[in-house]
This record gives sequence, C-alpha cells and structure tokens, in this order.
Amino acid sequence: MGEDNTKTIILNVNGRDRKIHDVRNSDTLADVLRNKLGLLGTKISCDEGACGACTVIVDGEAALSCMVLAVSMEGKSIVTIEGLSSGNELHPIQEAYLEERGYACGYCTPGFVMTTKVLLDHNPNPTKAEIKEAIAGNICHCGVYEHIEKAIEKAAEKIRAGE
Ligand code: FES
Repeated sequence: MGEDNTKTIILNVNGRDRKIHDVRNSDTLADVLRNKLGLLGTKISCDEGACGACTVIVDGEAALSCMVLAVSMEGKSIVTIEGLSSGNELHPIQEAYLEERGYACGYCTPGFVMTTKVLLDHNPNPTKAEIKEAIAGNICHCGVYEHIEKAIEKAAEKIRAGE
C-alpha cells in the first residue's frame, strides 16, 4: 500500500504487462485505462453499467470497465480498442464499421466494436437476431443501429473470408 491507500498493480493490457502506480482500491478499470495508461479509446458515458461505451475484453469475454475495480484485474488478460489494430492496419471489424458507416458521432463505437469482437470470436456466423441480442447492452444515442448491424454482418463475412 502506498500513501492514501494506493498501491502498485500489474495489469496485462493488449498483450503487455503494465506496472501502474498509485491505484486506489476504488479506481475502476475504465479510470485506470484512461487516466493511468492513456488508453482513451475506452469511453465512459453512463459510468454505471447501463450503456456499454466502456466495453473491453477480459479473458475473452466482454466486460464493462466502469463496473470492475482495477485492483481485481491483476492476472487477467485485458484487450482494449487500441489492441485490435496491428500497426496502421485496422482490424476487419473496424474496417467494416467504417465501410458500413456503423457510427455517427462515434462515441459509443469502441464499445460496440469490442462487443462485436467477442460475438464473432464465439459465433463467426451470427444471425440478425443473434447480432441484436449481442449488442443489446450497447447504446448508440445517435440511433444508427441498422448501420451497426450491417457492419457486424460485414465484419463476420470479412473474418470468415480471412481478410
Ligand atoms: Fe460503462 Fe456506460 S460507461 S456501461
């Protein structure tokens, strides 16, 4: 424990172990990703588990990073939107969102993309109903759900085609 009940933790983020100092027991994973690691792609909107904007992947499953404490994440594998692209090359899911305009203001997009990644990792050929169900916890205030659903279908096609 450091001063003010803070401590140093090690989180595995996007394949790298990161040592993070001065983490309070009450800091959420979203806080730490954004404020300590500068990974600003993870968004905070409702900050109470109701919108999905803060979705990241923890041990292969979607997790609301505003709802989990950073100190409980040691030893787990965390992937954020920054971990999807390789260098300058976008992930096929990101390409599909761009091509199908699966965004409007873009604030909720990283959360949708991460939810899409988990869906397609588990189910490479989802039906429309399965897509709707998968993104039920993600809210797009601009309401471009039709484009988002098309983007997910296209992403699935791209991944199945090995693009
Ligand atoms: Fe985490 Fe809305 S910011 S669910």
